[in-house]
Amino acid sequence: MARGPALWLGALLLASLGGSSAPASLLRRLGEHIRRFQESSVLGLSLGPGVAARPREGWLEQPLDPFNASDRRSFLQRYWISDQHWASRDGPVFLHLGGEGSLGPGSVMRGHPAALAPALGALVIGLEHRFYGLSIPAGGLNTTQLRFLSSRHALADVVSARLELSRLLNVSSSSRWVCFGGSYAGSLAAWARLKFPHLLFAAVASSAPVRAVLDFSAYNEVVTHSLGQRCLSFSRAETLAQLRVTEPPVSGVGDRQWLYQTCTEFGFYVTCEDPTCPFSKLPALPSQLELCEQVFGLSTWSTVQAVAQTNSYYGGQTPVGTQVLFVNGDMDPWHVLSVTQDLGPSVSALLIPNASHCLDMAPERSSDTPSLRLGRQSILQQLQTWLQLAQKSLVRVGV
Ligand SMILES: *[C@@H]1O[C@H](CO)[C@@H](O)[C@H](O)[C@H]1NC(C)=O
Ligand SMILES: *[C@@H]1O[C@H](CO)[C@@H](O)[C@H](O)[C@H]1NC(C)=O
Ligand SMILES: *[C@@H]1O[C@H](CO)[C@@H](O)[C@H](O)[C@H]1NC(C)=O
Ligand SMILES: *[C@@H]1O[C@H](CO)[C@@H](O)[C@H](O)[C@H]1NC(C)=O
Repeated sequence: MARGPALWLGALLLASLGGSSAPASLLRRLGEHIRRFQESSVLGLSLGPGVAARPREGWLEQPLDPFNASDRRSFLQRYWISDQHWASRDGPVFLHLGGEGSLGPGSVMRGHPAALAPALGALVIGLEHRFYGLSIPAGGLNTTQLRFLSSRHALADVVSARLELSRLLNVSSSSRWVCFGGSYAGSLAAWARLKFPHLLFAAVASSAPVRAVLDFSAYNEVVTHSLGQRCLSFSRAETLAQLRVTEPPVSGVGDRQWLYQTCTEFGFYVTCEDPTCPFSKLPALPSQLELCEQVFGLSTWSTVQAVAQTNSYYGGQTPVGTQVLFVNGDMDPWHVLSVTQDLGPSVSALLIPNASHCLDMAPERSSDTPSLRLGRQSILQQLQTWLQLAQKSLVRVGV
């Protein structure tokens, strides 16, 4: 039963997104319907410990422009919930943030944070990133719409999701919310804690490239084997044609959206202009920047500015905050843009030997190396320590 309505609603949502002519009122009505459905199904949530429950899919109505209260347009953001290990409404909440792709039920079932949930009695929620997967506003991916896509918009969504879901799920006001994420979403997890420490208790940021950089040639110095790297091996014309498609992809990585974010926030162009570089077919930096111009009409100058602004806004590799754990693998080329050394008593860094991109987040396997097992153990211990300290200080002030 849990899957039927969700699938049906998903299909309806797709139908409404497919035609960009779908009237906004239809979407709003649909949003209302989904929300009512969700609220009624939430009331049936079993809160008891140890009760097996399948993850549920839900939708939140979020403002398209959270920074302009006069703009009443909204979109539906998808989330997943697993309350299988949620021990009590005072228990911690693990908020697994989606990044540049769709987010499925696995986000709350497999790998960490799901694997850490039983030990801490946590509720696990997965939140899909706006403009990816099924969380795409009506109007799709046209360039006018994409100005509502940025990490700052995504963080505003995290804040409103955290407040709205607390209410919907009757989470205790003393519950600790911990953000998790891998890769770009790892950066979001860290930034969510840094910017909103009163709402988000801690963050575990896996393989998080927190420093934006235009020319990421350092990538090739670390590369030992191929990863989830963006592949531009098609002909230029084919690539351009694909990136100009404004029909939203409903699963997998959103290439057009992510290109937009690289042009307007992060850069991260993997180049290979040094003669010793093993990947001679990679496009040169000017050619990568031309994509921003050709696909979105964005100048190179604006991208250069955007990268600098991102670093001044978030603090690059020396963010100032507390209770953020950065986890990296030393075989992952992205670790050079992350935090790999402790930045004080409560911004800690864990560099796992021989581990690749986001490996700590993957489900446990019998072939896992001892260093990976140890790394995962340290993540759990760090969270336990922070949660226990917070509990003690609560007791001290007599709450
Ligand atoms: C805010 O939204 C209103 C209503 O849509 C619009 O008229 C106005 O131009 C927007 N302001 C900005 C700064 O985008
Ligand atoms: C893009 O989408 C917005 C919002 O639906 C719409 O107002 C605008 O006309 C669209 N622009 C193009 C070029 O299709
Ligand atoms: C929320 O939880 C509290 C404490 O258990 C309970 O008193 C209250 O009735 C709950 N509210 C809802 C709407 O379930
Ligand atoms: C890392 O991998 C190398 C080569 O496979 C191996 O010799 C070494 O023992 C590994 N180190 C750790 C800490 O697992």
